[in-house]
Amino acid sequence: MEPVTFILFGATGDLAKRKIYPALYNLFLDHKLPRSFSLVGLGRRELNDESFRSNVEQSLHEFSRRKVQDAGLQAFLQAFRYSVLNIGHPEDYTKLRTLVEEREQALQLPANRLFYLSVGPEFFEPIAANIHQSGLGSAAGWKRLVIEKPFGHDLQSARELNEYLSHFFTEDEIYRIDHYLGKPMVQGLEALWQSNPAVQGLLKKQYIANVQITAGETVGVEERAGYYDHVGALRDMFQNHLLQLLMMTATQLASKSTPDQIRLKKKLVMEALEPLRKQDVGMNVIRGQYTAGSLQGQQVPGYRDEPGVALHSANETYVAVRMQINDFFWRGVPFYIRTGKRMKEKATRIVIQFKEPLAQPADDLDAKAEPNLLIIELGPKERISIQLNMMDLAHKGEIKPVQVELQPSQSGLPEAYENLIHDALNGDPTYFAHWDEVELSWKWVQPILEAFQENLIPLHSYAAGSYGPDEAHFLLAEDGFNWWLDEQPDEDLSSSQREYAESVSR
Ligand code: BG6
Repeated sequence: MEPVTFILFGATGDLAKRKIYPALYNLFLDHKLPRSFSLVGLGRRELNDESFRSNVEQSLHEFSRRKVQDAGLQAFLQAFRYSVLNIGHPEDYTKLRTLVEEREQALQLPANRLFYLSVGPEFFEPIAANIHQSGLGSAAGWKRLVIEKPFGHDLQSARELNEYLSHFFTEDEIYRIDHYLGKPMVQGLEALWQSNPAVQGLLKKQYIANVQITAGETVGVEERAGYYDHVGALRDMFQNHLLQLLMMTATQLASKSTPDQIRLKKKLVMEALEPLRKQDVGMNVIRGQYTAGSLQGQQVPGYRDEPGVALHSANETYVAVRMQINDFFWRGVPFYIRTGKRMKEKATRIVIQFKEPLAQPADDLDAKAEPNLLIIELGPKERISIQLNMMDLAHKGEIKPVQVELQPSQSGLPEAYENLIHDALNGDPTYFAHWDEVELSWKWVQPILEAFQENLIPLHSYAAGSYGPDEAHFLLAEDGFNWWLDEQPDEDLSSSQREYAESVSR
């Protein structure tokens, strides 16, 4: 790995403390940082190097997945310097440039510079422009811009942002973070398809009934209402993380591919996604907002009662979408995707449901087989399971589903940010969101955004601690399916199911 200066905007922020410093420290423990490494942290607060380092150390004690070890800690922290920076002040960038150059000289580093923007989106443009104008971005070595989400808040703003950044950085120099792409199981999908001909053989539309992708969270809006109440689940999770998971699932790479080949395949998936017209959103999208409920034995407030949320907010905290990929591999297989806050369980998973046997014995319920499932759990517990049917050998005759579980070692799996920072330092763009994907994702989501904004579809409520609005279950029931691994809905849903069916047909 080439020596580098890591220039971190937002060095006193939450993300830096919770994710970036712990990730860097764990990479250091694994000898995955460049041998010569310098980090310059930037923030508005006045701090000297010593107190900056002690804040970094504190964050390691709090958030590192591995215990902080005395050995090596000082060497790690010695790479850290701090400089006060007011984002709109050009003179602060000149000062920064001097500091970076001094450190490069002292450590004999080539002028490779990684600019990491861990700041609000309103600062992306002025920072990029100032990096350019100060000369920080025109040194002899390479430069990279690592940028956190959100990348725009709709199609037009994303295009404008991209156009602006492209004056100062080429597409190859921009690393758009989507931390779902850093999750170890997501990075392992390619190998799962490639190294298992049996799995590859089964992943054909003639065998698959549907694909379900779920990202359920138990947390509510937390202290982020100022951001979340303007954004909602569609922008916060669906447009980026979940569409990336869809691409990673649908892009089955038969052999080891280059980053460019992977990007091309992902782009093809997005281009093949059947577009949703605004007037069809109601038939394929369910939006919901949580009300008060009980979660893990505790009463929790409804969304509108959370601090900072507008009294009559119509912001969605849940979204479920039915979609079709209209290409040779997937035509006819529905994809169902959902995400929500304050759901019964924290789970991020992909479930592939296989078609049922040709005939089921209608008169013998005991012998009726459940569908086969391939379940890929991306977190919080990483594992893969396969659901098969077996005859109960002790009580002869009864057929029961059994799940065969394959669990990678639970200890020692890297955090998403470790994988991503390591890749960015190495110049490997595979698991970053390319502009084509981002643009196509916004394009696909745009009619839904507009339908929400114009209130064309109902905002359903669901109790905190549930599996989301009943209507999301009906969405699948219409097609003869159900969400896998949820407890099945209560019997008395049938009347509301009828109402739902009527509202959709209206
Ligand atoms: C973030 C969203 O990108 O992802 C949060 O802004 C969400 O609202 C988080 O809680 C979920 O990430 P994970 O890795 O816990 O599923």
